[in-house]
Amino acid sequence: MRHSRLSFRLDDGVAMVTGGASGIGSAIAVALAQMGSNVALVDLPSSDATATLEAIEAEGKRGEFIPADVTRSEQLEAAVDRVERSLGPLTAAVNSAGIAEAVPADEMTTEQFERLFRVNVTGVFLSCQAQARSMRRNGGGAIVNLASISGIVSHREMLQAHYNSSKAAVAHLTKSLATEWAPYGIRVNSISPGFTRTPMNERSEVASILDVAVTLNTPLGRPADPSEMAGPALFLLSPAASFCTGADLVVDGGFTAW
Ligand SMILES: NC(=O)c1ccc[n+]([C@@H]2O[C@H](COP(=O)([O-])OP(=O)(O)OC[C@H]3O[C@@H](n4cnc5c(N)ncnc54)[C@H](O)[C@@H]3O)[C@@H](O)[C@H]2O)c1
Repeated sequence: MRHSRLSFRLDDGVAMVTGGASGIGSAIAVALAQMGSNVALVDLPSSDATATLEAIEAEGKRGEFIPADVTRSEQLEAAVDRVERSLGPLTAAVNSAGIAEAVPADEMTTEQFERLFRVNVTGVFLSCQAQARSMRRNGGGAIVNLASISGIVSHREMLQAHYNSSKAAVAHLTKSLATEWAPYGIRVNSISPGFTRTPMNERSEVASILDVAVTLNTPLGRPADPSEMAGPALFLLSPAASFCTGADLVVDGGFTAW
């Protein structure tokens, strides 16, 4: 039996990270640069990607901010074209753009439900579609989508039926795309983070439970730092995960084990 060389690196890769200006997306984008990739950050025009771009460049890699809304397919297609022209063929993608809010289900408006699904589910689908078209032309690639433990369990303290169900949809969308695109050499996986200290969780409904409920209900006894999502995501993007597709990697400090 021949033993191949184990590699977690992505040298000379080109990565696109939606939601890359903030939180988990930003942490993964910097880790992609540490592992050898140039990185395009795709985020809303109103976002500030300066700190993330500086951190990418400090790793000796090229970074580029591309303003786009993930609910708009033509903006995503244009973003992928721009990545290819300025950084090279796309080899890896991370879809971290997402929104959250808490609203009791019996008070939720159709607009609130649909807006959240438009960003969290349609946005991930359209991002994967634009990325996969490019990867297919270039012989393959790897995609990681951000699902959540909220797609696995419903939190006692937080009323967010639309968010929870959107994240279950992301995990199953990921499996569906993985099976369709395996013949093109494209692997599609998701990670399901537990509570992580990011701007998304500065909302009062989360901030108030982070230090007590989350800490008590997490075997590791604390919420995650965004950087702790980078290793699991980078593993799934790397050659070391060459036989992983359609998987959901739970990264929650044991929260769903209790
Ligand atoms: N923070 C957590 O505890 C946690 C837990 C599980 C899953 N997640 C998921 O991880 C992902 C990242 O979350 P985060 O905590 O880093 O949040 P964050 O708010 O810090 O970052 C989200 C980013 O998405 C961008 N974004 C929002 N709508 C967009 C749109 N229409 N088009 C383009 N970009 C858009 C925002 O501008 C922001 O930069 C989300 O999908 C979230 O649901 C977060």
